[in-house]
Amino acid sequence: MSVPSRLVVTGGSGFIGSNFIRWYLRAHPQSTAVNLDKLTYAGRGENLAELQRDPRYRLVVADISDRGAVQDALAGADAIVNFAAETHVDRSIQDAGAFWRTNVLGLLTLMEVIRDLRPARCVHISTDEVYGSLPAGSAAEDGRLLPNSPYAASKAAGDLLIRSFMQTHGVGVIIVRPSNNFGPYQFPEKFIPLCITNLIEGRRVPVYGDGRQIRDWLYVDDCCEAIDMILAQGEEGTVYNVSPGNERENMSVVQDILARMHRSESDIEWVRDRPGHDRRYSTRSDRVRMLGWTPKTSFGEGLDQTIRWYQTNEAWWRPLRDKAFQDYYRRQYVPG
Ligand code: NAD
Ligand code: DAU
Repeated sequence: MSVPSRLVVTGGSGFIGSNFIRWYLRAHPQSTAVNLDKLTYAGRGENLAELQRDPRYRLVVADISDRGAVQDALAGADAIVNFAAETHVDRSIQDAGAFWRTNVLGLLTLMEVIRDLRPARCVHISTDEVYGSLPAGSAAEDGRLLPNSPYAASKAAGDLLIRSFMQTHGVGVIIVRPSNNFGPYQFPEKFIPLCITNLIEGRRVPVYGDGRQIRDWLYVDDCCEAIDMILAQGEEGTVYNVSPGNERENMSVVQDILARMHRSESDIEWVRDRPGHDRRYSTRSDRVRMLGWTPKTSFGEGLDQTIRWYQTNEAWWRPLRDKAFQDYYRRQYVPG
């Protein structure tokens, strides 16, 4: 398939989704995008403020569980990319209900509409967390699904649900499993933006456990490019991992942020570890690399750009650190 001209994005007001819509309309100026998003605490209309008057873009505020809204949005579309999900592991440990409602039951409604309307192209965004923690080696796309957090389990359940629709109903879907993204517009509950915004506010950065956990950090623009390539060239019914090979211990990420923001290790606060904390995520992304994808942004460049973005966009993130956020923060963070 070539580049779709009428795209529906679900969950396009969140971090990766908004970056993707911006990327997609810039890369394909003749295409249009409908964004169906529930606007949860993590979904912000202002993430795509510059597109509000662009005739190529339309926001529909709705839940992916709303069958009628999804049917209307998908009518006449030639492709869909689903980003809609509850995404923060720590919140899934505090209360997993919303995770299963959206990441599994909402996805079920979406899949039923897709089964009935059969858009030419369907891409679902999953995660590398479905493979669980790998002490050594890297998971390929046929690796075992061993999720450990309620969030990861809901995403793995979503992937299996999609598999069942492909086997049973002949629906063609591509599943994408990216590693940890970072960059502009990421909600300040996630590790990198939390560290940056805490330091700007004069607070310390909370590090879980021993800080030796490993993540493979992917700059969000590189993730968007991979999704764009998979949308245009990926093989139906296939899973694509997306990871840059930037594996780092959390402490090394913190040290990089502290150095760039002229702070010291006395600005670290050791806090209670995340229960069931996965030690290391690691995937092989040979398949997406075979499509011609390669990450363009080094970890250092991505971090520089991200810090600069949060320093110059306080008006975006300060309102997000509201009373509800502070209540969440107090529940989540206790001394280690
Ligand atoms: P996010 O939390 O920033 O955004 C999620 C978006 O989905 C929000 O706009 C929210 O309003 C919307 N949403 C939630 N429930 C919805 C519902 N029921 N109906 C419609 N919209 C709903 O998430 P993100 O970090 O941008 O992640 C996007 C996708 O990528 C998710 O599926 C996530 O599992 C996956 N993923 C994220 C990362 C990462 O590092 N951020 C890495 C791998 C995979
Ligand atoms: O791997 C992909 C996943 O990456 C996505 O599927 C998830 O949606 C996304 O939230 C992310 O999950 P993580 O749990 O890996 O990301 P988070 O930013 O929450 O944490 C990154 C690491 O930093 C992890 O080892 C936990 C640690 N951490 C996190 C927070 C929020 C801390 O040490 N302190 C913190 O305050």
